[in-house]
Amino acid sequence: MTPTHRRLLNWYDANRREMPWRDHPDPYAVWVSEIMLQQTQVETVRGYFTRFMQAFPTVAALAAAPQQQVLKLWEGLGYYTRARNLQRAAQQIVASGGELPRDVAGWAALPGVGPYTAAAIASICFGIPAPVVDGNVLRVFARYLGWDDDFRKPAARARLAEWLQPWIVASGRPGDFNQAMMDLGATCCTPRSPCCDACPLRDDCVARREGRQAALPTRPPRKTLPTRTAVAVLVRDAAGRVLLTQRAPDGLLGGLWELPNGASGGTPTARDAARVLRTATGMRVTRIEARGCFTHTFTHFKQVWHLFEAVGLSGIPTADPRPSGARFATPQELPLTTLTRRVLDRSS
Ligand code: ADE
Repeated sequence: MTPTHRRLLNWYDANRREMPWRDHPDPYAVWVSEIMLQQTQVETVRGYFTRFMQAFPTVAALAAAPQQQVLKLWEGLGYYTRARNLQRAAQQIVASGGELPRDVAGWAALPGVGPYTAAAIASICFGIPAPVVDGNVLRVFARYLGWDDDFRKPAARARLAEWLQPWIVASGRPGDFNQAMMDLGATCCTPRSPCCDACPLRDDCVARREGRQAALPTRPPRKTLPTRTAVAVLVRDAAGRVLLTQRAPDGLLGGLWELPNGASGGTPTARDAARVLRTATGMRVTRIEARGCFTHTFTHFKQVWHLFEAVGLSGIPTADPRPSGARFATPQELPLTTLTRRVLDRSS
């Protein structure tokens, strides 16, 4: 072990962030946490992780659960394919005897587990020296090494993983090494204003020596996101329940429930809203009023909803054309999209 390793692991031992899954050496718990952490910050994951583990304490419990319950516990975390893949992987594991994988290749073969997640689980649970190259780690090393690579490119990530391999072996503590790097990137070597004076890698950091912390990692200019405009309609029945439709099972937000909606160009009118409602649910309304705009930003586009509210009803929801039809429900009982949840929180 080199002095740099010692400093890094000492820093980790002194600054290690407490996280509920770090007290679970159990690979199932670590797997669930790593899937949640793929696109979500530690602070947000804490509560979701605890609720999820209470509901599904074992891989068998997760495999046997209704998908809607899994999605409900994921509601608000986003990237719902993660939840569907997690359950699919649990079902595969149970079908082949219930044993969790013990090496990187075994983990990487499961749906939803990429090379970075496989390396994280294998190193944390089984002490396998596989380097994790996530956004935090590559920021730390782009600066430490002074590399100008565009790390969105797989070849650049592979080059860094190769460079890290002997480091992680020499550390003697692969799981802690990976988590030290992730914590360092999250709490010290941050995108803006890194705390270089407290950093265990400060003595040989190229970016620090050359004053290039702000320039690394190299980021190509961000493109402006395209906007998708839609009309959404809020309809309540006499009991105050809300009319919802279910999204198709595959694809973006698959299986989640949302307000009836449909694409529209420009600024939609009440007549457009009535047409969208009719197409999505078969319902006709006598009066419909505009209620403003709601926006949600996804990775590759921005969704804008022009919200309308129905006042005065005729007709009933039909099962067509949506696969699972439209239904009146209380918002607590179904997994909702974030935009729907936001509209309902503002409109109650
Ligand atoms: N991000 C992803 N996995 C993590 C972990 N195990 N510790 C800290 N941050 C993480």
